[in-house]
Amino acid sequence: MWTARTIIHNGRAIPFGEASIHPLALGVAFGIAVFEGLRAYRHPSGGFTVFRLEEHLDRLAQGMKVLRFDDPPPKDVLRNAVLDAVRLNEPDDDAYLRVQVQIEGMGMMATTGPVGWIAAALPRERSRKFATGLAAAVSSWTRLPDNAMPPRVKASANYHASRLATLQARADGYDSAILLTQRGKVSEAAAACLFLLRDGVLVTPSRSSDILESITRGTVITLARELGVPVEEREVDRTELYVAEEVFLCGTGQELVAVTSVDRLPVGDGAPGAVTKRLQAAYEAVVRGTTDAHPEWRTPV
Ligand SMILES: Cc1ncc(COP(=O)(O)O)c(C=O)c1O
Repeated sequence: MWTARTIIHNGRAIPFGEASIHPLALGVAFGIAVFEGLRAYRHPSGGFTVFRLEEHLDRLAQGMKVLRFDDPPPKDVLRNAVLDAVRLNEPDDDAYLRVQVQIEGMGMMATTGPVGWIAAALPRERSRKFATGLAAAVSSWTRLPDNAMPPRVKASANYHASRLATLQARADGYDSAILLTQRGKVSEAAAACLFLLRDGVLVTPSRSSDILESITRGTVITLARELGVPVEEREVDRTELYVAEEVFLCGTGQELVAVTSVDRLPVGDGAPGAVTKRLQAAYEAVVRGTTDAHPEWRTPV
């Protein structure tokens, strides 16, 4: 497998291991940073495209706005840096890309600059459970509420909560955690959004269910409708997970992965379901460019 050798820090390409910021910079001291995780997919022809680059950069800009960052780096600069990060690392397989913008200044907790940023490309294999599915547990940790740490902002500090839920799920012998909102409705997994199939309708918690407004979730909704599967965005009860025909998680990192049990109750017959598999195949085609559909989602490197 290839290894990361170059990282772009504040516009300069430097050896991957030499990137640094001060430990007392707010990005470290208080986790004041926003980021995006993207994927560059290798096409059968050998070239690479970055999936839904524009949408990721738009979400990053929203996060910087909400967190009131000084002088956010312009979209054009970040777009070029992401593409350069892929080129300079010369991957021979799919790459996981991270764009991160952090406060590099020191000072008080409410300091808003100076702002620094990185663009990196890293190897990342597909989830080991991609084909077989995950055993998930509903966590006793709840999802962050919008009026405390807004989950629609992809802020580094938000992952403290996701980490607690993941560590607890693993300690209890599960693969993944599903988090509920503070009102007890289903929100999402620690680092992925969630869909369930009920009576042939694909259901996903609405955008006011304290979810990250996931790019993959949007892709899945579009692909499902194109395949003739009806989709509903609404509040979801915990017990709907127990009686669903299918459940799956989706995100840039996880892609689409079936959940085959929730709280040790099998989902459907306990194997990845037919709709999940159809959507996995449709997703694979659209990210890897083996279909002509949605060329606007693939930015050539
Ligand atoms: C908390 C959370 N939810 C959902 C997702 C999926 O988002 P996206 O599809 O934009 O990658 C992620 C991705 O990392 C995440 O961290």
